Amino acid sequence: MLKDAPIGVFDSGVGGLTVVREIIRQLPSENIVYFGDTARVPYGSKSRDTVIQFSRQIVRFLRTYDVKAIVVACNTASAYALDTLKAQLDIPIIGVVRPGALVAARATRNKKVGVIATEGTIKSGIYASVIHEHDPAIKVLGKACPLFVPLVEEGLLEDAVTDEIARRYLKPLQESDIDTLVLGCTHYPLIRKTIGRLMGEDVTLVNPAYETAISLKRLLQEENIYRSEGEARYRFFVSDAEERFSQFANSILPVDLVWTRMVPIDEY
Ligand code: DGL
Repeated sequence: MLKDAPIGVFDSGVGGLTVVREIIRQLPSENIVYFGDTARVPYGSKSRDTVIQFSRQIVRFLRTYDVKAIVVACNTASAYALDTLKAQLDIPIIGVVRPGALVAARATRNKKVGVIATEGTIKSGIYASVIHEHDPAIKVLGKACPLFVPLVEEGLLEDAVTDEIARRYLKPLQESDIDTLVLGCTHYPLIRKTIGRLMGEDVTLVNPAYETAISLKRLLQEENIYRSEGEARYRFFVSDAEERFSQFANSILPVDLVWTRMVPIDEY
């Protein structure tokens, strides 16, 4: 049955697990095949062509598991590769940018939204363009935070170093009067506490993962391929350091991790 086919989810590393976490919470019967490109992370400083090439390889790999839909759980890949992938696929695919941008556009009261993300996502201007589709009067202030991804991949989620770097990155946003801040990289919800503390409680933090899971559910229901009951199976693949990945995943997912395997992704 097509409903039982897994959903393919991918990211450059562990960040997409924040999206998997939301899918598990909101769509608990869906089977998931996850790929984290741990050998080639970060994507945020790479060119559009490279991110497209990596994303296409990953999609080819995920399709060997007959996935029924794909979630690009990476803002950088959503910004650079989603349209290309969509044009080439005959199964539904969604990214994380549009759902997050629309929530931010609806959440802001003073029409000033901050976006923190990778260099690639900020350079693409994609958050501002989706937010402006909703309301062109909203001012969007973007800030690239390239060191956040390696800090998260290193597991330094609550650490003085992360604190210091966040302080520097967030300073211009603290000095602006934004009332909403998008965590525009799937790694960033893992350091949400630090970001929230520095921005203060008057600033609403938007985690696109939450909204992405809602959009995914809606999409699967529309396509009549939503799996609403039964126990789910989760399979995890990486391009490097599978044990390290497993440990990390076990620490943040609300389920026991079954296994993680390494994949020679260059061969796809
Ligand atoms: N977590 C990804 C994102 O949302 C990629 C981070 C990176 O690899 O630079 O953008």
